[in-house]
Amino acid sequence: MQTQIITISENEEKLESLLYFSAEVIKNGGLVVFPTETVYGLGADATNASAAKRIYSAKGRPQDNPLIIHLSDPRDAEKYAFTSETYYKLYKAFMPGPLTVIMKSKDTVPKETRGGLDTVAVRCPENKIARTLIKLSGVPIAAPSANLSGSPSPTTARHVIDDMMGRVDVIIDGGKCDFGLESTIVKIEDDESLTLLRPGKITLDMLLSVVEDVKVADAVTSALKEGEKPLSPGMKYRHYAPKSPLVLLHGDAASAVEYIKREGYSNIGVITYNEDVEFFKSSLAGCKVLAFGNRNDEITQANNLFEILRDADRENFDMIYAPLPRKEGVGLALYNRLIRAAAHTIINL
Ligand code: TXA
Ligand code: MG
Repeated sequence: MQTQIITISENEEKLESLLYFSAEVIKNGGLVVFPTETVYGLGADATNASAAKRIYSAKGRPQDNPLIIHLSDPRDAEKYAFTSETYYKLYKAFMPGPLTVIMKSKDTVPKETRGGLDTVAVRCPENKIARTLIKLSGVPIAAPSANLSGSPSPTTARHVIDDMMGRVDVIIDGGKCDFGLESTIVKIEDDESLTLLRPGKITLDMLLSVVEDVKVADAVTSALKEGEKPLSPGMKYRHYAPKSPLVLLHGDAASAVEYIKREGYSNIGVITYNEDVEFFKSSLAGCKVLAFGNRNDEITQANNLFEILRDADRENFDMIYAPLPRKEGVGLALYNRLIRAAAHTIINL
C-alpha cells in the first residue's frame, strides 16, 4: 500500500482544506494516522465494520481488544452510548481532552469496533487536527494508538513512519504530541461510580474533584493474577515492551549504582532524572544514560518516556534500568506504563 504523508501544523488557519483529502479517505473506509494531544491514533470510520477490521490487521492487534471511538463533540456520545449524569459531569470538567469514558454501547457501533463487548469507549480529543478531521469525516473515528502491537505508543510522526509506512493510506504529521502518554480511561459503572482502568494526564485527584466514588482497578498498579479476567481486554497484553529486559529500581542513585555493579552486565542503558545523569556516567563506565526529565517534573518525563523506550530498543542493551515513579498525580501514569514495560520487575534497593 502506498502511504501519503501530509505535514500540517495545529495552528494552521485553513485546517479544513488541508484535511479534506484525509476526511475523504476515512469516508471511503481507509486508514488515516492523526495526531492527538496524547499519542498518535490509527483511525478509520468507527461505524464501518470492515474499516475497523483493517485497523486490527494494520496494527497486528488481536480482534478482541476494543477500539476507542473519537468524537468531535462530546455530546455526540448520545448517538453511540447510553450516557448518564456522570458522563455530563466529566464532559463539563474535562472534555475535549485526554479522557476516555466507557459506557453501555448502542447498536450504532458495530461489534467489530468494540471487540465484541456490550460497552464502548468514547473520547473527544483536544487536538485541533484530530477534531477537525473527525468533524469533516462526518463519522466517529475508531483509533487505537498508531504503533505496531507491543511497541511503545508513537508520540512523533517519525515513530509512526517507523511502524506504519506501507500499512495505512495517510499519515498526518502534526509534530510532537503535547502530553505523550495515552488518555486516562474510566468506566461508568451501573451505580454511577467510576473505575479507573488506565491513568493518564487526568489524574485520580482530578476525577475525585468531580465524581465522589472512584475506584482504581488493581491491574493499574499490579500484575493480573493467574486466570483473572481483566476489566479491560488491553490489560492482558504485554505492552510498551522494550526488546531488552527492563528492571525498575526503587531507591536512591547511589544504591542503584551499587546494585547495577553487582549485577555485572556490560552493555547497559540507564533511564534516569536529569539531576542524576553525571553521577551515573561517572560511576558506571561505558553505560548509556538516557535522561527523561527533572526529578519532580513528571509532565516532561511523560512527554519523553515512549521516545526513550524506542531509543533504547535500537541499542540492543543486555539490561535497562529505570527509576520506579511515585504513584501520585501524573506519576501514577508513568508508574503504570513502566511496570508493564518491565513486566512487573521491581527491585527494592
Ligand atoms: O490516548 C489515547 O487513548 C489514544 C489516542 C489515539 O486516542 N488511543 C489509545 O487506544 O490509546 P488503544 O487502543 O491503544 O488503547 C485503548 C485501551 C485498550 O487497552 C482497550 O482494551 C481499552 O482501551 N478499551 C477500549 N474499549 C474498551 C471497552 N469497551 N471496555 C474496556 N476497555 C476498553
Ligand atoms: Mg495502544
